[in-house]
Amino acid sequence: MDDGQTPAEADELNPHIAHNARVWNYWLGGKDHYPADREVGDRVFGMFPNIVHVARADRAFLGRAVRHLAGEAGVSQFLDIGTGLPTVDNTHEVAQRVRPESRIVYVDNDPLVLLHARALLSGTPEGVTDYIDADARDPEAILRAAAKTLDFTRPVAVMLLGIMNFVLDVAEAQSVVRRLMAAVPSGSYLALTHPTVELGGEANIEAMRFWNEHARPPIVARTGEEIARFFDGLELLEPGLVSCSRWRPEAVGIGDAPEQVAQYGAVARKP
Ligand SMILES: C[S@@+](CC[C@H](N)C(=O)[O-])C[C@H]1O[C@@H](n2cnc3c(N)ncnc32)[C@H](O)[C@@H]1O
Repeated sequence: MDDGQTPAEADELNPHIAHNARVWNYWLGGKDHYPADREVGDRVFGMFPNIVHVARADRAFLGRAVRHLAGEAGVSQFLDIGTGLPTVDNTHEVAQRVRPESRIVYVDNDPLVLLHARALLSGTPEGVTDYIDADARDPEAILRAAAKTLDFTRPVAVMLLGIMNFVLDVAEAQSVVRRLMAAVPSGSYLALTHPTVELGGEANIEAMRFWNEHARPPIVARTGEEIARFFDGLELLEPGLVSCSRWRPEAVGIGDAPEQVAQYGAVARKP
């Protein structure tokens, strides 16, 4: 970064260009977005109406995965990279409801997420939440800063939800996941979701092309086979890599939500 700038400072807040964190918040029904974000969000929705279901299914997956990890799996440390703008049931809220002593480190590089980060930092008195302004493509910087809050000799759940799709080169994306998982001990977990044009997501091809011409940062969809490679060397929990809405669903048929969305998700344990 030039002049010692943080990633968010380098990418100044520009309300005239749609940004992923804000458009994602728009699709989730939040209130932190500008007209440019709504315009691109609506255009993408016009091409791929299921994008709204993808966003909601992804957040619902987050809730179920974190409840499992903090509960049955006994994890009390979370490294959530590509956090997004605060919404309902952020990782620390879900984890600390189950395990109040949970320690959570959030990481994002969006300037508006940085501005709103304080809302993410009000956890339980027994637990800790921290926020790091960093780029997912620099896992060593993230791990260094996270070590102030997380004990890397104890299990950590690494959360990469809807974020590796912004690391366009597949080898680089795999290397990022490998380096993160190499830094955590046995008994740690990886929770990851990723968009695809499979699982009924064909319309995503046109929508992502439009996104890449009009919004930031550019995005890539991947096949189930490519996404499965992120879990190499790890033990996938049941039901494996599936549409994230089918990962241990608790209720089906709520409103008009489809049973399957074009977003893969899985949770895996480091042996
Ligand atoms: C699709 S949202 C997902 C938010 C949340 N994880 C969820 O699943 O609801 C992706 C987030 O990743 C962030 N992001 C994109 N590229 C990034 C990068 N290179 N480094 C850090 N964060 C990034 C965006 O700012 C955005 O907040």
